[in-house]
Amino acid sequence: MTRCIGVLTSGGDAPGMNAAIRAVTRSALARGFEVYGIYDGYKGLVGGDFVKLDRSSVSDIMFRGGTFLGTARMPGFREEAVQDIAIKQMSRVGMDSLVVIGGDGTYRGAYDLCKKGINCIGLPGTIDNDCPGTEYTIGFHTALNTIVECVDKLRDTSASHHRCSVVEVMGNHCGDLALYSGLCTGAEIVITPEKGYDEAWVMSELVHLDQVKKGRHALVIVSEKLVDVHALADKISNLTSFAGRATILGHIQRGGSPVPEDRLLATRIGDKAVELLAEGKSGMCVGLVKDEIIATDIFEALENPIQVKPDLYGVLERIA
Ligand code: F6P
Repeated sequence: MTRCIGVLTSGGDAPGMNAAIRAVTRSALARGFEVYGIYDGYKGLVGGDFVKLDRSSVSDIMFRGGTFLGTARMPGFREEAVQDIAIKQMSRVGMDSLVVIGGDGTYRGAYDLCKKGINCIGLPGTIDNDCPGTEYTIGFHTALNTIVECVDKLRDTSASHHRCSVVEVMGNHCGDLALYSGLCTGAEIVITPEKGYDEAWVMSELVHLDQVKKGRHALVIVSEKLVDVHALADKISNLTSFAGRATILGHIQRGGSPVPEDRLLATRIGDKAVELLAEGKSGMCVGLVKDEIIATDIFEALENPIQVKPDLYGVLERIA
């Protein structure tokens, strides 16, 4: 039975994580549960680095980027001996349940703890939009907004100089940030891991834009880890009349005040996580599918990650 809930953020930080911590804390307190914030993800859980949270501990954090609890990646948490230390630390303060906010690595940690009898609920928190059991993750819309703002600025200068901007965005192995930002900024080319990188095709499209359509400038959005954007910009300069310029947006995409979509998502799913624990449920992850808050078995979600996403590639092909 749930009496005392710990909340942690793990993996890369994402705007909206603070709103989720706030929702979990307030929803838990409203149900008469105790709440502890755990610093630095699973690392803090193992180290017993906890702070008791009350209503005012989570005031004025909703609009802040990052996570006030801190976060970390801890591959060592896969070891059972390490998990056992974490469980001992939890029992020291009477913590019987956990809400973990992060990506699929975070969910795996929660799943392992569930097998050892700890009540755990996972919430999707990453800018990458690559969590199972949800259409959108906390942080995705804010990162998308940041990318769109930056690319709009690049377009101003690129258009003035007959250039081709090659912009690398984050996403790890998920192309959603590239695809959605490409659609929102009118990119001619979007390169994602889902569709792969075909250099010959990219070049022929740009040559066509340059020589046949007489485009004044061009924009290529590339998902990270697929191609060296500086080398690609050089090739574009050599094969077209556009001067290629590469920009890597980097960690700026992870910062900033969360947009309303992320605050709302974080608040709705944070409250749902506590509701599930109060009902005696565990081993689930919460997400948003067709504007409904749903809970999925965490193991099922990790093993068969069914992602219900709109087919935006068709739109891109027709509109780009
Ligand atoms: O998972 C979020 C993310 O920002 C990815 O998009 C990116 O590949 C990675 O984290 C960067 O990790 P780090 O902050 O450790 O450099």
